[in-house]
Formats: sequence, structure tokens, C-alpha cells
Amino acid sequence: MIRPLPPNSTIGIIGGGQLGRMMAMAAARLGYRCHIFTPEEDSPAAQVAALTTRADYEDYRALRNFAASVDVVTFEFENVSAEGLELLAAHSPVRPSPAVLRISQDRVAEKSFINGAGIATAPWQAVGSPSDLAKAMQAVGLPGVLKTTRMGYDGKGQALLRGPEDAADAYARLEPKPLIYERLIDFACEISVIVARTADGALSAFDPVENRHREHILDLTLAPAPIAPEIAAEAKKIASKLAEALDLVGLVAVEMFLDRSGGLRVNEIAPRPHNSGHWTIDACPASQFELHVRAIAGLPILPAVRHSDAVMKNLVGPEEVALWPEILATPGLIPHLYGKAEARPGRKMGHVTRLFPKGGLPGPFGIAAALGPLAHRLEEP
Ligand SMILES: Nc1ncnc2c1ncn2[C@@H]1O[C@H](COP(=O)(O)OP(=O)(O)O)[C@@H](O)[C@H]1O
Ligand SMILES: [Mg+2]
Repeated sequence: MIRPLPPNSTIGIIGGGQLGRMMAMAAARLGYRCHIFTPEEDSPAAQVAALTTRADYEDYRALRNFAASVDVVTFEFENVSAEGLELLAAHSPVRPSPAVLRISQDRVAEKSFINGAGIATAPWQAVGSPSDLAKAMQAVGLPGVLKTTRMGYDGKGQALLRGPEDAADAYARLEPKPLIYERLIDFACEISVIVARTADGALSAFDPVENRHREHILDLTLAPAPIAPEIAAEAKKIASKLAEALDLVGLVAVEMFLDRSGGLRVNEIAPRPHNSGHWTIDACPASQFELHVRAIAGLPILPAVRHSDAVMKNLVGPEEVALWPEILATPGLIPHLYGKAEARPGRKMGHVTRLFPKGGLPGPFGIAAALGPLAHRLEEP
């Protein structure tokens, strides 16, 4: 049991990106203020928050002052060092807990935890040296993906290995070490489930969504995922089981591969709101961001229901954000822009959501058509 944070309390958010921005906007609606901790100047989250501390994640003095000045600390960015996490926890309640963060920061710790909870992942082995990699390729099989264990996002820090001849280059290139080698899963589709959990164990899981990536960056989310009801139920069960095993307070997004025989394998977990849940802002009475804020503030969480089906398309890089005027002029496209000054290639600049009556998600051609000026950005259906 935790005492509910009264209105006007201050939530400290580590990280200044778009997830922090949307978290702060949801918090504001519930009458909270947010204090952002970020090294970035003019960050998306700072633009909508009451207070900002601009400092490095290794600046322990700044972390301590920040934690001491807020009523609870949460994260939109998970890669704070173990020492930093201890420091935060010494001065403020930290939700989710440092233990959860430590698991999600490290792919080996994460996969060990998931398998330990009795849940399948791709076969994998830890790789600390080139000879480990040779053994891992033998044991796990080819093709596979070699990844950094820490600091990876949007496919950064990964290499596809088709044969033993790809190993040496990939091993040399990927930093920081150590690495992890995973079997490449020939998936039918990728899905994710977002679950909120309160300190007293109440759970709310959104229905699974399908995620389509482009150059390893999330491009499109379909809510709900067009999968069999038994598989959807199983995916929610897996995500809820992980939230419980983590003793989570907050939100966890669980990414999974659905293989061609209907089997689910967890790819990774993120103990925070997730890009594949942005559609919930427009299609649900309470979004993923609101459920996260409620859970970490000790408020009751609500059922993770939607009033509409939805398609979410990310606006990635200069080409897509250049379509902003056309997006604004298209009825039915719900626009979201993150306030980033510079549109670099591969950078998530914003997203759009399109709603459909519940049960009325169209097939591939209908989805492309519904995205209006963004239709030509989708891969051939
Ligand atoms: N073992 C795997 N088998 C098949 N595809 C994979 C595998 N690992 C990663 N991928 C692909 O790469 C994407 C990004 O990898 P992921 O492990 O989620 O890293 P991150 O999202 O942290 O960059 C996944 O969503 C998936 O499309
Ligand atoms: Mg991922």
C-alpha cells in the first residue's frame, strides 16, 4: 500500500524525451507538476514541465538534489547507473524500483529473468569474447542477432549474423561490450502488451497490438493486433505474469514475437510507457501515460480499455515531419509533435493516430488509405 500523492505534488521524471513529455502532460491533467532531469537543452519534456534540472546522469550531486526536491521519481529513460539509482532511492520513493530498472537495462539480466519466470525468449547466450561468440553460434544456431547488452535502442547496437564469416566484424564493431547472441526468430508478426500494476497488485493490461518496424524503428502500430483471441489472451497473461514477477509499480511494455506456429517469445521489456502505446492517448479513456502516473502516484488504476480501434504511425526523420502541413489538413488524422528542433534521419519527431470504430480496423489497403498524406510512406501491403 502506498499513500496517494495529493494534487500539486511533484513527480520527478528521469529523461527529457517524448515519453517524458507525454507523461508530464498526463500528470498535469491529474493535477501534478513534473520536474524533468535531463542532460539535454530544450528537451521535449522540459517544454511542458514545471521544472527542469539540466545535468548529466552521472552528476550525483544533481541527482541527489533532484530526488530530494520531488515527491516520487520515475523514468522515461532507463539507463541510469546503479550508483545513481541508489542515490535517487535514498532521497525519494523510486517507482518502478531500482531492481526493475537494473533488469531492463541489461539484456542478459532481462532474458535470464524472463526465462526464470518460465517464459520463452529466443534461444540466447552471453558473449564476452570472440570465442564465446563462436560457441554461441554453435549452440544457438544461425542466423542470429548479436547485440550489446546495454544502451541499445531502435536497433542500435545490433548486427545480423548470417554465417560464421560475419562474426569477427560484428564483434569488433559493437560497443559497449559485453554482448549477447540470439537466434533470429522467423516471426509472423511482432506484438506488444502494456500492463499497469499498482503497489497493492492491481493489474490492467491493454489488448496486444501489432508493431511494424522499418529499419529497426517502430513505424506502425495496429490496435488491436489482428491475431486469434487465444493468442491475445496468452500474450496478456505473459505480460501480467512478468509485471507480477517484477513486483512492478508502474507500467511495463512487453515486446513479443509471434512465430508461425502460434508460439509467443518475449523479445524485451521496458518498465515505462512505450512507443507502441501512443495510440492509447486518443483511443482510450485512460492512456498508458495516465495509468503509469496513477500507478506511481498511488492512485487507483482503471481498466485498460479502448473506445476505438486505432492505427498509430510514427513521424520519423525529416521526410515524414515535412508532411506536417498536409497531416494538419487531413480530417481524422490526430497529430502529435514532440517539439524537437532538429529533424535528423531516424529521429522520432511525432506521431499521428487514426481512430476506427471498435472492431472496425481495416485491412492493409484501408490502413494505408486512412493515413492520407502518409500512405506512400508505408511498405507495400
Ligand atoms: N532475435 C530476433 N529475431 C528476430 N528479430 C529480431 C530479434 N532481435 C531483434 N529483432 C528485430 O529488431 C528489432 C529491435 O530489436 P530489440 O531487441 O527490440 O532492440 P531495441 O528495440 O532495444 O533496439 C525488433 O523489434 C525486431 O524487429
Ligand atoms: Mg525493442
